[in-house]
Amino acid sequence: MRVGGGDAVSRIVERFYELVEADAEQRAIYPEDLGPGKEKLKLFFEQWMGGAARYSELYGHPRLRIRHLPFVIDELAAGRWLRYMRQAMKDEGLDEVTLATVFQAFGPLAHHMVNAGQDVPRDAYQPGQRLD
Ligand code: HEM
Repeated sequence: MRVGGGDAVSRIVERFYELVEADAEQRAIYPEDLGPGKEKLKLFFEQWMGGAARYSELYGHPRLRIRHLPFVIDELAAGRWLRYMRQAMKDEGLDEVTLATVFQAFGPLAHHMVNAGQDVPRDAYQPGQRLD
């Protein structure tokens, strides 16, 4: 699927992070420095949409659930993630058909990331570490 190339991805991620920053509860889940996560999310989305596989070249297999374990994510946080991402994509002008397709994949993925109240290792990786 094409969402309009690298610039659109970059604007969507910037907008998404603006919405996260404006919500104290959601912001509290993220580390102090939002910069590295933002760049990784851009690379990941570019790859996910069939663009260059730069995310995996740098960081290995995404293994998203493992990478999210250090951050405590409950159902409400998953709901907010989906809401802010949908808003960011709408603001970029993506049409409803594209949004429906994207969120069919993101919905289950976001709920798969929920780890609050679970007995899981919270120090499973160092940010930036390669996971293969
Ligand atoms: C369910 C709610 C979610 C929350 C609260 C959440 C939160 C976070 C946080 C706190 C980070 C770390 C950022 C940093 O290190 O600066 C992160 C990283 C990341 N998230 Fe999420 N996330 C969620 C769902 C998702 C979903 C559904 C996707 C994919 C579609 C995703 C993709 C990523 C990627 C690619 C990274 C970078 C991972 C890495 O290489 O370290 N996240 N997320």
